Amino acid sequence: MQHPRGIVIVDFGGQYAHLIASRIRRMGAYAEIKPPETPLEEFRSAAGIILSGGPQSVYEKGSPQADPGILALGIPVLGLCYGLHWMTQALGGEVKPGKVKEYGKTPIRVVEGGGDLLRDCANGCTVWMSHGDEAAKLPEGFTLTATSDACKHAAFADASRKLFAFQFHPEVTHTEHGEDMLRRFVALCDAEPWSIESYAEHISAQIKQEVGDRKVFMLVSGGVDSTVAFTLLNKVLGQERVQGLLVDTGLMRKNEVASIQEAFKPLRITNLRIENASDEFFANLKGVYDPEEKRRIIGNTFLAVQKRVSEEMGLTAAGGWMLGQGTIYPDTIETGATQHADKIKTHHNRVEAVQQMIEQGLVIEPLKDLYKDEVRRLGEELGLPHELVWRHPFPGPGLGVRILCAKEADTVEEFDIRNSYLAGRQVEFEFSVLPVRSVGVQGDGRTYRHALAFFTGQSAVPHEMLTLATTIPNTNREVNRVLVCTSQSTLPEFVFSPGYLARERADLLREADAIVDAEMRDDAGLYQRIWQFPVVLLPFGTSEGGQSIVLRPIESIDAMTASAASLPPAILRRMTERLLVLAGIDLVFLDLTSKPPGTIEWE
Ligand code: XMP
Repeated sequence: MQHPRGIVIVDFGGQYAHLIASRIRRMGAYAEIKPPETPLEEFRSAAGIILSGGPQSVYEKGSPQADPGILALGIPVLGLCYGLHWMTQALGGEVKPGKVKEYGKTPIRVVEGGGDLLRDCANGCTVWMSHGDEAAKLPEGFTLTATSDACKHAAFADASRKLFAFQFHPEVTHTEHGEDMLRRFVALCDAEPWSIESYAEHISAQIKQEVGDRKVFMLVSGGVDSTVAFTLLNKVLGQERVQGLLVDTGLMRKNEVASIQEAFKPLRITNLRIENASDEFFANLKGVYDPEEKRRIIGNTFLAVQKRVSEEMGLTAAGGWMLGQGTIYPDTIETGATQHADKIKTHHNRVEAVQQMIEQGLVIEPLKDLYKDEVRRLGEELGLPHELVWRHPFPGPGLGVRILCAKEADTVEEFDIRNSYLAGRQVEFEFSVLPVRSVGVQGDGRTYRHALAFFTGQSAVPHEMLTLATTIPNTNREVNRVLVCTSQSTLPEFVFSPGYLARERADLLREADAIVDAEMRDDAGLYQRIWQFPVVLLPFGTSEGGQSIVLRPIESIDAMTASAASLPPAILRRMTERLLVLAGIDLVFLDLTSKPPGTIEWE
């Protein structure tokens, strides 16, 4: 299927390519991501090329490389960070480790006549740097356009060949005028305009072509993505060629199933079967403790139920049915679908059985080119209720990734703070490393580390603690999250309660989640300000069988990076008090960690 003629982002690793693509699309130009190995032929029709950053060194063996021919197509090219290094090396310049690593906000000075792209920074500006290597010698034909204290060649260009290079990241919001720089580059390219309305037509045509005269059987999870995908398929193919299945996994939110049925009523969508398979899910998850194993089992149980129901209803491949999924663009990369992205978490839409079906052409994923905000706008276009479409995202495996499972306490014997930021500092509050670990992301890799909790017992978070939440995971290898305990001001004796994913624990978390949701909606504006608010259950408390709740409110634009959201103290206090009333909840924590180093979910 032909995509609009757009800007091609070459993905050299990490998550930069997504940020760049979503920024450019928000400017109204089409952008898509391709791996470096993409054959030269596929670049010929690009309107422009952006070479993304990436974690590796371009001179190292095995580092990602693209075809240098892309620099000679006469198409505008912008190389960013690793992209700059690759471009430099490919054109005969030299890349070396810099004398110092530059990281964070850095002032640059634009060299006189610094060119079109940096026009808004004529008087200098602050940019986001994150690099160890630098261009030691520019390729022939290039002139310097900007410089920083530590990096002489902070930006350079060969305007006659429309080749531009920045050592910094204009796609990151910390870069002053970053958006202007990208917009000026886009203006040099002849990209087709992008809007969700025009893309809806494009996807509709694509669906018709991919499905042909087959029919689509679609798993609807209750989340925004699969709901929008199901509605779109219904609209394009008609109800008689689509069948929905909502599997009640026992890991859904309180009243979730009923609210989805309600939302489809005004659209007269009636082809959704509800299957309560919670017994099967809990049976398969019995005695399972490893987070990745849990995800695999949830994904495979979904498929087994789907297979059973589809056979029962005669919805098989042989009968002309294919499988629909609500996978969106970022989901496809978080699994390491592109060669250079490290595997952080296996997305349930990409477990092996599904992967095989994809290879056989049996899966349709109509939203796989869209970002979350685009999916939401499409949902509204399709007539889904505003509240449903703008609901906080909820992961496919549901509460399953929010119930931490462990057989025994996972303690750090001796917490080594000598090298950490805490060393030698007067911290007013008691703290402890918790006896569980959770997933995080640092650099471009996955971490599985402990959380450190301060015991303040307060609902107002001291400012110092927010700073510590950034510095502790950066300076201590044991820790990837920092929490504050809102229910206890002194360090208690922890009592560990071994637990896997059992119905009682899901029921308990469901109640806790409903309390948090209700409190959050009570405050005007809070629900909108917060991107997502996972509520997590930890297998330890202060009494026999007791457990803990972690509140994880975050602000984000696209879930690729996130910061901990602040809560009004009165609301945090009420949430804490109400949660402690639940039988079996001993402690309440608030997670203060950004992403990175912590992921949004704990698993
Ligand atoms: P993390 O935890 O990786 O989450 O920072 C990023 C976003 O993805 C959601 N998420 C998932 N969604 N299946 C999903 O459908 C999953 O397995 C999954 N894991 C994380 C998460 O809720 C957040 O919005």
